[in-house]
Amino acid sequence: MANIERDEVSGTDTTGHEWDGIKELNTPMPRWWLWTFYVTIAWAIGYMILYPSWPTLNTYWKGTLGYSSRVELNTALQDRDKARAPWTKKFAALPITEIAKDRQLLEYAMAGGKVIFADNCAPCHGSQGSGAPTYPVLADDDWLWGGNLEEIETTVRYGIRSNHDEARDSEMPAFGDDYLSVSQISDVSEYVMSFTNTSKDADAAKRGSEVFVEECVACHGETGQGGRDFGAPKLSDNVWFYGSTREDIIKQVSKPRHGVMPAWQARLDDVSIKQVSIYVHSLGGGE
Ligand code: HEC
Ligand code: HEC
Repeated sequence: MANIERDEVSGTDTTGHEWDGIKELNTPMPRWWLWTFYVTIAWAIGYMILYPSWPTLNTYWKGTLGYSSRVELNTALQDRDKARAPWTKKFAALPITEIAKDRQLLEYAMAGGKVIFADNCAPCHGSQGSGAPTYPVLADDDWLWGGNLEEIETTVRYGIRSNHDEARDSEMPAFGDDYLSVSQISDVSEYVMSFTNTSKDADAAKRGSEVFVEECVACHGETGQGGRDFGAPKLSDNVWFYGSTREDIIKQVSKPRHGVMPAWQARLDDVSIKQVSIYVHSLGGGE
């Protein structure tokens, strides 16, 4: 290049390019930088050959090492299962009541159950089973279907009004569908309120008591004590599922909610179901 000349100020050669009298100094990248750059390129090419990288038309380049993160995950899961095998075998073999008697197994159940509950159950039942509107509290001793270990396990496994064949099932009739008159519904709701001393209309409550005997006792019991065969809540305590006001009660009697709890049989494995049932049982209200 003819135009290369030495710049007097910096003592560096120019490249020979010139734009309107402005000349470009020839200052190449430092050698170490350049080599690092080449090494990274070589590394990338090597990596792409060894590991899964480029997409092809229908699939992708799988890499000569045969590595797959899915295989790695499966191996990790197998290792985990192997480490847990002594526990899971015992869990699978023993009925839940026996598991709860063994201190070590109980600890294992509680640790796992807590996590399983937080992941799967807390969205409906609240953290640590504290309940939410229309979802029952699991941490008290007010049970709809039963609060011993086996009953809880059955509820969790098959659900309530779920699609499972063995689900706990019952249906409070919709008394508002031409079944009872508006005034009968109002009266019987007044009577329900009298169980918790919140009724202010003794005459209506008295009229309602007759309706209650006819229509409600079979499930809710003579004194509103509830009935577990039907998962019918106790009406004589101050624990309300669907609300305690007159309007709430009238609404439930007219058109009951029929709460649904999913069956976990197909979503959680046997060990997890036992673990979470033991955890629920421990929340404070276990029988
Ligand atoms: C989609 C919401 C939902 C999820 C998720 C859910 N539940 Fe429930 N659960 C309910 C409802 C609603 C009821 C009450 C149904 C009824 O009887 O009216 C219930 C009832 C129960 C009962 C019976 C309580 C009693 O008083 O007899 C138990 C035990 C229970 N759930 C445990 C669990 C566990 C353990 C999990 C997690 C594995 C779970 N639930 C996840 C909605 C849910
Ligand atoms: C076939 C059984 C059955 C009959 C009959 C029945 N119930 Fe129920 N009742 C239930 C069940 C089960 C629930 C809770 C489940 C649901 O509806 O989600 C319930 C819930 C209720 C609740 C809500 C309780 C709460 O904690 O919020 C009230 C109130 C109630 N019933 C009142 C009545 C009255 C009043 C009658 C009679 C007119 C009646 N029930 C008849 C089964 C029954």
